[in-house]
Amino acid sequence: VSGPKFTRKRFVAVTGGGALGIAAGGAGGYLLSRDDDGTAAIRSAVPFHGAHQAGIVTAAQDRIVFGAFDLQVTSRGELAALLRDWTTAAATMTAGEPLGKPTDLLIAPAVDTGEAMGLPAAQLTVTFGLGPGIFDAGRFGLEDKRPDALVPLPHFAGDALDPDRSGGDLCVQACSDDPVVAFHTIRNLARIASGRASLRWTQLGFGRTSTTTSGQVTLRNLQGFKDGTNNLRGEDKAEMEKFVWVGDDEPQAWLRGGTYLVARRIRMHVEIWDNSALGDQQNTIGRYKLSGAPLTGVHEHDVVQLDAKQPDGKPVIPLNAHIRLAGPAGNGGERILRRGYSFADGIDPETGELDAGLFFVAFQRDPRKQFIPIQRRLAASDALNEYIVHTGSALFAVPPGVERGRSIGEALLG
Ligand code: HEM
Repeated sequence: VSGPKFTRKRFVAVTGGGALGIAAGGAGGYLLSRDDDGTAAIRSAVPFHGAHQAGIVTAAQDRIVFGAFDLQVTSRGELAALLRDWTTAAATMTAGEPLGKPTDLLIAPAVDTGEAMGLPAAQLTVTFGLGPGIFDAGRFGLEDKRPDALVPLPHFAGDALDPDRSGGDLCVQACSDDPVVAFHTIRNLARIASGRASLRWTQLGFGRTSTTTSGQVTLRNLQGFKDGTNNLRGEDKAEMEKFVWVGDDEPQAWLRGGTYLVARRIRMHVEIWDNSALGDQQNTIGRYKLSGAPLTGVHEHDVVQLDAKQPDGKPVIPLNAHIRLAGPAGNGGERILRRGYSFADGIDPETGELDAGLFFVAFQRDPRKQFIPIQRRLAASDALNEYIVHTGSALFAVPPGVERGRSIGEALLG
């Protein structure tokens, strides 16, 4: 996306075009920038401000760097100040600007760590979430503000969660088409938080495993299957209201227009998967590997026919196939917006196998009705369980977006 003459500093926003989607809730639109010759070109910044935080219905970028933080601050005012500082920094970085003006001052560390200098914003979005712990009694005086759904996720059958890769008081999801830009974001937010909050765990991801807008093609996960075919599409406003955005019926007014983020680090036993027969793999998912079509269809987007039977009476899509158990038909019509990425974190020293898999991220308006019951069904009987294990888990409430000049979480913290 970056033209030869393009630099971060030369980025000029010419916002104001409703047709660009900027007025329509922030996420998903693109700013225009001007090249030196004055021609406008679609460049790479996603607006930070809007009714909802960006990075949710925004077309999924190529990369993620996710950071979960533990808080050291103990007062509500200090927490509000941290989120103010983070909001300002996130707005700056998503516009493709460095933090602070570059100087030649030799006697002090630079404000910006520098590795993203010269890079465009590369669709950077920064999405903030609040963990259940900040509403605990005796911490920030927020116990009356806890939304009912914001309690730690229950244990699911087969979970092998590493506490060092789970939970957190705050989260920051940085997504970008450039891994350096995403990493730079988490690194600099951690630096800004120094002494106030520290990183508890991070997860780098590559290769989106979700399609979140109809313009995107479906890519493949590390099992080689197309992933994201039957995902919600971010531009479908009615579905977003129904399944993703917390509505006016939420008693905690500060969360209306927000959502909930579930993160699960799901390791794949890739060696076992790679040695399993194609037919077994397809029955596990319920789709053809090559085309991505359901086993009852020919083309990727053919409707899944759960009732279809083979001549011997057995269902074409097995009873324990992933799509049967995860899909809305088995879950009271409930759906989630998946926004996950592949990860590969080296070798497991105990087994010598790849520590790789799917960093599952999903957004929904009520995890008690969406992620939790879906995952209960999957944990109990999904054929995929033979090939995967969940090793990390976290739930965060994602406050709504803000206008320029306001900060994330302000409606909660004042
Ligand atoms: C490593 C773990 C997982 C893998 C490899 C995986 C893979 C897939 C694949 C290949 C599909 C079919 C294509 C599509 O419609 O996107 C799919 C569908 C789906 N998955 Fe997963 N998935 C995993 C974990 C999960 C988890 C933890 C959940 C939720 C709790 C989930 C929820 C769904 C849903 C809702 C669908 C769409 C089903 C439909 O409506 O047809 N998946 N997954």
